[in-house]
Amino acid sequence: MSVKVELKIWRYDSSTGERALKPYEVDISDEMTLLDTLDIVKDRVDGTLAYRKSCRMMICGSCGMRVDGAAVLACKVRMTDIVKDGRVPVVSAMGNLPVVKDLVVDMDPFWHKMRQIEPYLEPRLDRATEGENIVPQERMDAIHKESLCINCGCCVSECNSMESDPDFLGPAALAKGFRFVGDVRDNAKIERLERYSEEHGLWDCTRCYFCNERCPKGVDPRDAIAKLGAEAMKVGIDRDMGAKHAKWFVTSAKTTGWLRETELVPKTQGVVSALKEVKFAMGLLKHGKVPPPVPPHVAKHVGEARALYDIVKMQDRQGAAGIVQVEKPLSRIEFEGEEAKDPYGEGSFPRPHLPGEGPEDDVEEEAES
Ligand code: SF4
Ligand code: SF4
Ligand code: FES
Repeated sequence: MSVKVELKIWRYDSSTGERALKPYEVDISDEMTLLDTLDIVKDRVDGTLAYRKSCRMMICGSCGMRVDGAAVLACKVRMTDIVKDGRVPVVSAMGNLPVVKDLVVDMDPFWHKMRQIEPYLEPRLDRATEGENIVPQERMDAIHKESLCINCGCCVSECNSMESDPDFLGPAALAKGFRFVGDVRDNAKIERLERYSEEHGLWDCTRCYFCNERCPKGVDPRDAIAKLGAEAMKVGIDRDMGAKHAKWFVTSAKTTGWLRETELVPKTQGVVSALKEVKFAMGLLKHGKVPPPVPPHVAKHVGEARALYDIVKMQDRQGAAGIVQVEKPLSRIEFEGEEAKDPYGEGSFPRPHLPGEGPEDDVEEEAES
């Protein structure tokens, strides 16, 4: 069925600096995507319109652009969905990357950051003669999402940290970084974690989650950054203020079950730096904005928080494994309605368990009997 659609496109010419929002009206078939619609505009209305495309099937990552300010893959979104209820969408180039012409951005800064994280395997050459390096399925599952990235830049377009700090490594590069940190065949895990933990690295993410929201391939770059942070802390790379901040949350949960905010600043920034904030802290205290540190407020069921801490330690889930573990049941919820699958079935990480309920407890019981 043929439908008439309206859209507006931000036109830009970097050679003249001219910029204009231009309206278009074209006839399309109702199954067409935004990319098909742009093809029709270019073909029948204005051949000077510039945009990138290649595969038309969400694989090459060329057609990233913004619709009403949010990044999409033009070949993924159906035009009839975005013009619903008479809406006239505004199509523009992606954010955080320099615009070359109309909807085409310069991807050089994107590739520069990709190169910075060294996106290739550093193999264990000392084992090269030992034979085939067989990777267990459960270890590949841990980096499955990050391996889905098609380098489209939609996450980078929406990244808040990158907007304020263009040198921030950014969601796409860091997600790629975890793809190698989490790969058991890689021999440079510690060096990578050291490098990614430097200034403009993983701890500069503000956790706005826009990258997760806009990624068209389900990579969830923010989750990958969380996994990098967890792995860095697990191996003792915790000098950054962000890492100290995260560590204090864990200590708070384990000791009182509440966030001990009054100690958060000295524990994170150090005593000298915290002294400069005393006046500000006293003001907060006076207005009842922070609980008095003494006596510390202890949560009624703090035992549960402590037990959880012990379980995570005992089952060695402090690093990325703990986060991967949580993704399993979450993905099950996402696909609710489909055939129910055991999220900890064959090929998964081991099922988490309470003390006394684990497989090793059965072994112990058998040995005792
Ligand atoms: S969560 Fe972090 S990396 Fe993702 S968009 Fe926000 S600031 Fe950027
Ligand atoms: S993480 Fe997602 S949004 Fe970012 S570049 Fe890769 S596929 Fe695109
Ligand atoms: S054209 Fe290849 S991802 Fe859209």
